[in-house]
Amino acid sequence: MDQNQNNNIDKELLERFESEIWNKVPHLENNQEGGKIVNATPLVDITADFKECAKKIYNLDISDSELQVYGKLDSTLLTGSIKVRPAANIIHEAISTGKIKSGQTVIEATSGNFGIALGMLSKLGLQVVTIVSRKLQEGVFHELRNMGIKIMDLEMDICPAPGMEGKKDELVAKATAANVRSQLTQLGFDPSIFDNSITEIEALLGKQDIINLAKLLSKKYNCFCPEQYDNDLNVNAHRTITGAEIDQQLQEDGNSLDEFNILCTFGTGGTSGGLSRYISEKYNKKGVHVIFPPGGQDVAGIRTHNNADGLKYYQPEKYAGEYEVDFEKAKPLLKFFVEKGHDIGESSALELYATLQLVGANKGNKFVVMICDGIEKYRKNLEKIGKIQPPGQVSQEEVASNSSDYDKVIWIHTQYTPQEGGIELLAKSLGIDKSKIVIPNARTAQQLLSGQGIPDEINNSIQESNGKSLMVCMAGRTSLMAANVLAEKGIVTDSLIGGITELPEARNSQLSELVKQASQF
Ligand SMILES: Cc1ncc(COP(=O)(O)O)c(C=O)c1O
Repeated sequence: MDQNQNNNIDKELLERFESEIWNKVPHLENNQEGGKIVNATPLVDITADFKECAKKIYNLDISDSELQVYGKLDSTLLTGSIKVRPAANIIHEAISTGKIKSGQTVIEATSGNFGIALGMLSKLGLQVVTIVSRKLQEGVFHELRNMGIKIMDLEMDICPAPGMEGKKDELVAKATAANVRSQLTQLGFDPSIFDNSITEIEALLGKQDIINLAKLLSKKYNCFCPEQYDNDLNVNAHRTITGAEIDQQLQEDGNSLDEFNILCTFGTGGTSGGLSRYISEKYNKKGVHVIFPPGGQDVAGIRTHNNADGLKYYQPEKYAGEYEVDFEKAKPLLKFFVEKGHDIGESSALELYATLQLVGANKGNKFVVMICDGIEKYRKNLEKIGKIQPPGQVSQEEVASNSSDYDKVIWIHTQYTPQEGGIELLAKSLGIDKSKIVIPNARTAQQLLSGQGIPDEINNSIQESNGKSLMVCMAGRTSLMAANVLAEKGIVTDSLIGGITELPEARNSQLSELVKQASQF
């Protein structure tokens, strides 16, 4: 390190970071790769409970099998999730090289856990701003706020996913840009800097590219962006620490990682990428199985396969396998494990259910399952398991081939309403008569989504229906939220996957020919 760089370092911040955070998270002693790891999280043998769950919940008798299932309990980490590992490594490097100093702001796009992990910085007096989409569970927002994080909620029906060119939607981009501007201004950022970059910002929002929006805002406002989706320290933290840690612990138990399969899910690809590399470098094989929920299912903190594809650290050639697993089927397992006293979150339940499927398919009998976070922030959803029949999620093909089952199609969106062309296209694509399409105004939609009651117009349409009711929106998110609100009130509807924008006929049209900004407030 040269003298200039040395002078540039906020030594007091570094000292506080090391004593209050770094010394409490897993890391390599003396920063030596291959050296001893301190503060390892527990690796716990959960085979007995796993077998009991298989029998009690799924009626599968695997009691005789030579099965070994370990849970790697990263839910015990500081800030409650695996994401503190990459966050601590990225921040440690940034403070050590003078990229972060006291008084600076950190901005990042996050689906929750990375943002919550950054909360350790707000404890040290730095301002942290996270950019999130509104589909996060209330418990996650609650934890972010508790950690002193400033939240910029884009209120778009999207999750952070880059590169969705072709669906560029100027209307959505403009509305969201105005929303971002107002939230930034409220947080004390100078709006004129935002206005000078409006073209770039709208282009990113048009592509729903929130990852690069965080980078751009960080550059323009002279903040620090950890860039978890593109920062090799993310993958490296798992390669040099998490992987080596599991290896050491298995050896201490008289096992070898060489014989184990690791199961994990995918958020940024840091865990799957780092563990894959560790195993491939040390044992010259692929050892990591990556589990995704199917398209349209929302499992906290992780991505569907579609939303992973295109990210820098999505590298399927490095994985031992990739699987789509139905979260609805994994929910009873989540309930079982939590009731047994295991602090596991939604993504862990998906992996454990996938493990059961691998066992059933004779694809191994030694597993390490990454328990990436705990249940606390998902309690509200946990309470609903088994009580509420979830809405059906149906594709255009499914609706079109069973169109006589549907008697009402209900448009639901708070910002857009279909034009005549959009209504005709919906009717044609779904094979349903135009007269069955109901279009409540934006305020009615908002009222339903707020969960405070079912507005009369929507209630009457559903009650009048002689068949099923199908909720439809722009991209499939708002309609699913609405169908979930209705399900909680005991009304089962279906939601159209992908919304109006994914209908095959819509691909040849400009979005502005199909929908317009809603004005009826
Ligand atoms: C609950 C949960 N599980 C798993 C992951 C996957 O982690 P990664 O970003 O390393 O792919 C995340 C990431 O945010 C997460 O929040």
